[in-house]
Amino acid sequence: MALFRTLSSPEPLPPITGDSVILRTPQMADFAAWAALREQSRGFLTPWEPTWPIDDLTRSAFRQRMRRYAEDLRSDQAYPFFLFRKEDGALIGGLALANIRRGVAQAGSLGYWIGEPYIKQGYMTAAVRCLVPAAFEMLRLHRLEAACIPTNIASVRLLEKTGFRREGYARAYLCINGMWQDHLLYGRLRTDQAP
Ligand SMILES: CC(C)(COP(=O)(O)OP(=O)(O)OC[C@H]1O[C@@H](n2cnc3c(N)ncnc32)[C@H](O)[C@@H]1OP(=O)(O)O)[C@@H](O)C(=O)NCCC(=O)NCCS
Repeated sequence: MALFRTLSSPEPLPPITGDSVILRTPQMADFAAWAALREQSRGFLTPWEPTWPIDDLTRSAFRQRMRRYAEDLRSDQAYPFFLFRKEDGALIGGLALANIRRGVAQAGSLGYWIGEPYIKQGYMTAAVRCLVPAAFEMLRLHRLEAACIPTNIASVRLLEKTGFRREGYARAYLCINGMWQDHLLYGRLRTDQAP
């Protein structure tokens, strides 16, 4: 894994390679594959995500998304990645380390999604397994957090098998699919043993 970026560099993060996947910073050229996969997976993803804006899958909204990502990267606020299958380079999903807090916290929040054709094949486990050490080593975070709706069995299982510990329960924590929903809170520390 190439982990040599310093936080002051304006360069995008280098791609991160895992067992079966590659994570890299989103680019405008990803639009067609991203929009097609999101459209194909809309029914699968919408129960677990914030409500999609009406124009979300348009090229202009994607361009705005790329601008926001670039600003987030520049200001060390968030690190977005698209997820590609190693064997053929297909775009299969996305992850983000968001809400980066420096100072005395050195923490960030992990989020992820995978396209419906690619579920339950171990791809997100592989992605989280290579992103976690990058977050600790490259971004020098001390703590990663994640939250999921208690009925999201896939997300709970993913977090627990990648070494996140359940730390709490937050009522009406995030507005998901148009409703304020309770969430399980998970955390993983730099000093935790990898599972
Ligand atoms: C959560 C999500 C990213 C998991 O991605 P994935 O690539 O399918 O996950 P993996 O194949 O690596 O599987 C991880 C674990 O979850 C289990 N799992 C995955 N989908 C499952 C399902 N629908 N029901 C039960 N278990 C499931 C897998 O079996 C595996 O556990 P195991 O190793 O004990 O068998 C995917 O389901 C998703 O995108 N869901 C919708 C969006 C979402 O929930 N985002 C997160 C909001 S908190």
